[in-house]
Amino acid sequence: MQMNPLPRATQLAHQMVQECLGKGDCAIDATAGNGHDTSFLLNCVGEEGRVFAFDIQGEAIRATADRCQNHSNLSLHHTGHENIKEFVSVPVMAAMFNLGYLPGGDKSIITLPESTLCGIRSTLEILAPQGRLTVVLYTGHEGGNTEAEIILEFFRNLPQESFAATHYRFLNQQNSPPELLTVEKRN
Ligand SMILES: C[S@@+](CC[C@H](N)C(=O)[O-])C[C@H]1O[C@@H](n2cnc3c(N)ncnc32)[C@H](O)[C@@H]1O
Repeated sequence: MQMNPLPRATQLAHQMVQECLGKGDCAIDATAGNGHDTSFLLNCVGEEGRVFAFDIQGEAIRATADRCQNHSNLSLHHTGHENIKEFVSVPVMAAMFNLGYLPGGDKSIITLPESTLCGIRSTLEILAPQGRLTVVLYTGHEGGNTEAEIILEFFRNLPQESFAATHYRFLNQQNSPPELLTVEKRN
């Protein structure tokens, strides 16, 4: 039997989301970047669903618009995920945060703990029961470790009656591979 290697955090994030997201649902890509996750979410929700995507960089908004150009059910917002509440008021079944910097872009523009936490808090409020929020954490760049610690602490303290939270990471790999946090809202 052909065995697949253990999934990378970004792959596992897609698996986690795929398990809870269906046709006609609404979803959020909180860090649109090059549009890979937005495109994935659009495929999951189909034409009847809707995806809201956010990024602070014009370059990322353009890249995402290019990648997803045939989707009229994409609401693309050139603003930070700390403003999610202003743009999304419907329940969402899935939300993805992929932190750090834009691959191929300016590495000094990174997600920051305060705005990331604000975006996560707002999203948890509109997450539907059995919906999932994923966070891919990067610790290899300056500031990444601090952000990861702050987000981890927040996840550890989520009330267990309302949320289940998990943390996936490699223990013995070099170069700080990304880690995955997943939160599921309970009924
Ligand atoms: C690792 S990239 C995202 C990759 C993307 N999900 C993809 O599939 O290509 C991180 C992105 O977060 C964006 N970002 C940084 N701060 C942000 C904020 N406050 N709100 C939304 N996006 C932000 C950066 O501009 C960058 O494009």
